[in-house]
Amino acid sequence: MTILIIDDDEAVCASLRLALKQAGYSSAAAYNPREALQILKQENEHIGLVIQDMNFGKNSDTSGTDGITLLQEIKALKPNLPVILMTAWASLDIAVRGMRLGAADFLTKPWTNEQILLSVETALQLAPEHSTVQHSSPNTAQNNAPSRTELDAQHDFSNIIGNDPAIVKMLALIARIAPTQASVLITGESGTGKECVADAIHRNSTRRAAPFVKVNVGSITPSLFESEMFGHVKGAFTDAKFDREGRFEAAHTGTLFLDEIGDMPLDAQVKLLRVLQDRTFQAVGSSKTKTADVRVVSATNRNLATMIQHSSFREDLFYRLNLITLHLPPLRERKGDIPVLAEYFLRANAQLYNRPEMSLSRNAREWLQGQHFAGNIRELKHLIERTVLMADANTLAADDFRAALNLQEGEKNNAQGAETLTSNQESLPRVGSMSLDEIERAMILKAIEAYPRNITQIAEALGISRNALYRRLEKYNIQV
Ligand SMILES: Nc1ncnc2c1ncn2[C@@H]1O[C@H](COP(=O)(O)OP(=O)(O)OP(=O)(O)O)[C@@H](O)[C@H]1O
Ligand SMILES: [Mg+2]
Repeated sequence: MTILIIDDDEAVCASLRLALKQAGYSSAAAYNPREALQILKQENEHIGLVIQDMNFGKNSDTSGTDGITLLQEIKALKPNLPVILMTAWASLDIAVRGMRLGAADFLTKPWTNEQILLSVETALQLAPEHSTVQHSSPNTAQNNAPSRTELDAQHDFSNIIGNDPAIVKMLALIARIAPTQASVLITGESGTGKECVADAIHRNSTRRAAPFVKVNVGSITPSLFESEMFGHVKGAFTDAKFDREGRFEAAHTGTLFLDEIGDMPLDAQVKLLRVLQDRTFQAVGSSKTKTADVRVVSATNRNLATMIQHSSFREDLFYRLNLITLHLPPLRERKGDIPVLAEYFLRANAQLYNRPEMSLSRNAREWLQGQHFAGNIRELKHLIERTVLMADANTLAADDFRAALNLQEGEKNNAQGAETLTSNQESLPRVGSMSLDEIERAMILKAIEAYPRNITQIAEALGISRNALYRRLEKYNIQV
């Protein structure tokens, strides 16, 4: 396999060829588009990857249209051949046009050898024709999708429950891409398991022994973005009393999980793009340049394509984050998985609350399968926890879930300040200041204060059974 470099600057071709040779790749050079297409048509050498410049000839403009035309011709000739583009930072819009036309990746000048080799390796691993990534079992070599059992035999997917074909297909894709360095974007509604998937990618990657660092980039105050991500040195600003490590450094050699990426302000987006593009950063107040050796996985429940149309998300950043997209289906589209998920959460909660004999009745299972679950797996998980806490019988029936659901709905409405709550509303804490668990705990403590050591009266005052009260006391670690 040979890598074709297309650039009119002979020095660039020579230095790239040297770097590739040192990494064990063979390469060829073409100094203009015509020559390049000739080489590709001849097929004397098997070209497995192209690295191309976007501007050709001394007198040509620097609009990149030559490069775009060349890319289109290459794609028409060999649709599956991965093409890496080289552009200047100032002409990133050309790179974006190229990515829309199916380029595999883009590099901004000046690049380092590490960057180019990382990009080459990833593009080759992801290319359909030259995939070096093995399927999980010899039986599946003929492109048969591997089964969940086959996948589990070779990978750690223990945190992802489900047998739906869409999930099994996704796990197969995770198995394929986890060992690469490719950036992954995980999309899907809230509660569908995006964080679980990010975790599974890390666990099954070569970086598994290094940290998995999660950052909710949507909630970082804009003025603190750089200090949070890149760190700061003592004295960099008034409150900087000590050196502080940033998230990129904390994730060094590991995986950086950028959550809620769609909620990032635009000026933070450009800062993130720059570090991902250059793979280097500086702590605030420091002139020392550090290398960002991280694999980036990001997630959002927003529709980035729409945001790009509305110019609220940068398209160049989108392509930088998104060599691979994993989309998680909502739970209502994989209802077949509800029973296994329910069983899994029941076992976990039964153990947690010391009710090992708890089980699901058939009608409960059917009832659960009929629910819509707008909050997806998270909602199912909470419903089961709540039902385990409330139910007295060991076999949970549909009615137990209904009762817990009504309570949950009621609490949701309360939290949203529903208008039906009038006199009480004033005395409730401010929305956002306490979680339901905290309120529950505080109410229990208040009832204990009112009826010291009298379990029956405390339970009555709270409107729950004695058993339910005991479970809560245990949950919140309260001694009566
Ligand atoms: N396939 C699964 N198997 C077991 N548990 C799961 C699965 N998917 C999600 N969960 C659990 O459901 C809850 C929600 O999942 P997670 O936090 O990954 O969702 P999310 O897509 O990141 O949601 P959000 O967009 O709100 O951040 C978590 O407690 C998680 O452990
Ligand atoms: Mg999440």
